[in-house]
Amino acid sequence: MEKKYYITTPIYYPSANFHIGHCYSTIIADSLARYKRLDGYDTYFLTGSDEHGQKIEKKAEEAGVAPKEYVDKIVENAKDLWNSLGITYDRFIRTTDTDHVEIVGNIFKKLYDQDDIYKGTYKGLYCTPCESFWTETQAKDGKCPDCGREVHEVSEEAYFLKLSKYQKRLEEYIETHPSFIQPESRKNEMLNNFIKPGLEDLCVSRTSFKWGIPVTFDPEHVVYVWLDALSNYITALGYSTDKDEKFKKFWPADVHIVGKEIVRFHTIIWPIILMALDLPLPEKVFGHGWLVIEGNKISKSLGNYKDPRDYIDKYGVDPVRYFVLREIPFGNDGNFSEEALINRTNSDLANIWGNLVNRTIGMANKYFEGQIENTEQVEDADKELREKLCTLKANIDEKIDHLQVSKALEEIFEVLRLSNKYIDDTAPWILAKDETKKTRLQTVLYNLLEAIRIAAILLKAFVPTSAEDVLKQIGKNQGDFQNATYIENGTYSVTKEPHPLFQRIELPNE
Ligand code: MSP
Repeated sequence: MEKKYYITTPIYYPSANFHIGHCYSTIIADSLARYKRLDGYDTYFLTGSDEHGQKIEKKAEEAGVAPKEYVDKIVENAKDLWNSLGITYDRFIRTTDTDHVEIVGNIFKKLYDQDDIYKGTYKGLYCTPCESFWTETQAKDGKCPDCGREVHEVSEEAYFLKLSKYQKRLEEYIETHPSFIQPESRKNEMLNNFIKPGLEDLCVSRTSFKWGIPVTFDPEHVVYVWLDALSNYITALGYSTDKDEKFKKFWPADVHIVGKEIVRFHTIIWPIILMALDLPLPEKVFGHGWLVIEGNKISKSLGNYKDPRDYIDKYGVDPVRYFVLREIPFGNDGNFSEEALINRTNSDLANIWGNLVNRTIGMANKYFEGQIENTEQVEDADKELREKLCTLKANIDEKIDHLQVSKALEEIFEVLRLSNKYIDDTAPWILAKDETKKTRLQTVLYNLLEAIRIAAILLKAFVPTSAEDVLKQIGKNQGDFQNATYIENGTYSVTKEPHPLFQRIELPNE
């Protein structure tokens, strides 16, 4: 059977102020997509922008332009940022794309026709920045439980989605599919705090503003942004159209990557929409933690905001990718500071990886004019490293399937660290002094090059530019995942002109 992998990021609200935290959902999804692609999966990686809603309408009005004009400009900025980060998406969907608009209109109509959506009156509280409805009990003191800003009362004729009808089915589904919501703690939170206490029907249309997808049969109403936005995961694949090959091939998604604050939408509203449409649910929803600064959100108003491109320009794209991937452990928050970024780059990328590559290529050139083969003078000192190299790929596969990207990187770097230790233990410079030890010296260098090669192949998914650079320097351009294991009888011809992978960065006060 053909192996397929469908991965999505949240579609972003168009914002001119994307910060480094925003990049995390996209960098992690890109790394997972790259990994699966390299591993032979037919992969589809979707990202995009979530462009409708009252918030955008207001912002455009303040800027004195039409909403579409407003979002067009910002979307260009987002694409430019993803480009600078080396994001390899297959489609950048915009919720203003005509195919999406049309399919969302059809979804709404279908749900109405089959009585999963009905007309009523909405009276309650609304948080415009989060585009979220809240009940009196949820919005204590008139504040949005998510962002803490003021909610306001709205009362309007509206359409409702019958969440209550599907509550039991959803509860059972989550309980019988333990890996559907990751991490486990978020699953419990959803079940105990939201689903089990009872789901109220959800208001899925608005009449107080215009910037949205019109309800086809009642155009005074626009579709609620979350119904519009969540549908992107299937509209992008041509669901319900005559061009639905991608939908047939890729749905259900293997994983939706989402930040922890939007798990609720993805594990309650989205599955219920899918159940109502009689479609299978995604395999997994992964709610990742946030990058925070001393426990605080990153934001322009807190004065800790910087354009991520400033860091990319200053330190390079791979240090930025590596930092966010390594620093946010599975499901938890990670701390961001420029100092932490510099320390990570120096300790892992320059000292462990860069040094290993540089020392090994240097020795291969010095002792064997860059030509190395395995002379199989195996000694006990080689055992641990060789064993690790044989199992590394399977080990990383497992971490990736469990979305433990930080852990995966830790393990790869553990092998690189072990390789540096192997140099110290085998002391090639001493072997080089003794003519009778030359064959042993070749084996040592061969093992080191194998470690560098295998690690670089795997690292292509996370820090692609540097990993490809390493493979080129050791003369192995084809970094195929099938070859990510110890090969007994390979040969190496390393570059005569090695260059450092990463420059050590001085801390500003050093
Ligand atoms: N438009 C919705 C998603 C709709 S998906 C059908 C949205 N957009 S967003 O622009 O506000 O957020 C996009 C992603 O960025 C979310 O996954 C969010 O969690 C993530 N992040 C925003 N700030 C973040 C950090 N400081 N750290 C890590 N991720 C964070 O929500």
